[in-house]
Amino acid sequence: MTETLFEIAFRHVFGRAPEGAWAAPGRVNLIGEHTDYNDGYVMPFALPHTTRAAVARRDDGILRLHSAAMDDGVVELRLDELAPGATPGWARYPAAVLWTLREAGHPVGGADIHYDSTVPVGGGLSSSAALQVATALALTELHEVDLPRQELALLCQRAENDYVGAPVGVMDQTASACCTQGHALHLDVRALAQRQVPFDLAAEGLRLLVVDTRVKHAHADGAYGRLRAGCEEAAALLGLPALRDLPHDGLDAALAALPDDRLRRLTRHVVTENRRVQDVIALLDAGRTPEIGPLLTAGHASLRDDFRVSCPELDLVVDAALATGALGARMTGGGFGGSAIVLVTESAADAVTTAIAAALPQARQFPTTPGAGARRLR
Ligand code: GLA
Repeated sequence: MTETLFEIAFRHVFGRAPEGAWAAPGRVNLIGEHTDYNDGYVMPFALPHTTRAAVARRDDGILRLHSAAMDDGVVELRLDELAPGATPGWARYPAAVLWTLREAGHPVGGADIHYDSTVPVGGGLSSSAALQVATALALTELHEVDLPRQELALLCQRAENDYVGAPVGVMDQTASACCTQGHALHLDVRALAQRQVPFDLAAEGLRLLVVDTRVKHAHADGAYGRLRAGCEEAAALLGLPALRDLPHDGLDAALAALPDDRLRRLTRHVVTENRRVQDVIALLDAGRTPEIGPLLTAGHASLRDDFRVSCPELDLVVDAALATGALGARMTGGGFGGSAIVLVTESAADAVTTAIAAALPQARQFPTTPGAGARRLR
């Protein structure tokens, strides 16, 4: 087989050929935001953009990592020195995966890994989940560890929770590991039940634009944990295992029972958002895709006003899109910056793109369709 440029890059860094190459995508979330850690529903799909990993095993207990996107050369780590919080920079994500695999008892050893990526970093499009999932898939396949994809995603989530120290839910890793081309993934996080829902925009004369605002507000990190804790506090006060267990028709009574406005706002978002996911699925199943637009927009209002994770740049993009005839628009992902998604008819797409560029010149926009989940390339 002729070497690809990617394999040649591996050889250039490590002086030998890789044993294989893997790819894992970033994601956007169509609907279901901040619901995953409340045991609720989400509906992401994979982007065509991926992080690739070319890998060869080592038998000396050393992990060597190199990224085409970073200027820090080869990062060398000893497996017996891996410990939560101990690895700085981007390398903590693959280190976390290796550590978690070994903690779980899987016989995975050292490796040389070269990465490149087309997933915009810092855009809220799950570049770190793509990095983790590509690493986990490569290492498990090379070491013949048979992990179902959902298990692989849970392991990557654990890596991020326990090693990186970010209390994220399981949506991003599941999207990267489990999505399929042409579908959005309906995930019931409590049951870990998946359904691939056909999402063929072109067939309906529609387009979905991703708009990366290229801002990341500084308070993002701690805020996520506080939101999660607030949701858990509200559920506990209501005597529920999770906010997922509060039915939509019990919302008013629950809100009346909660002691403060913040907990009421968090609860209202989660309960109405879970409902929006179900409503979007019903519309997609009925072939009424354009009608999901208002649900996306309602999701944005809820994230902006109740959950309060939007920011002026995201609101600007959403407002500009809606004012120019978009069917719906919302922030996607954790918030405090990152990206928005915009649903438009093909005929309105150019005008909407122009309006967004005028409203936020720094924004990076691209139309997208659901891509494939993680896979072996070579
Ligand atoms: C981030 C987290 C996910 C999820 C979203 C919000 O992307 O990694 O687990 O909570 O925020 O929906």
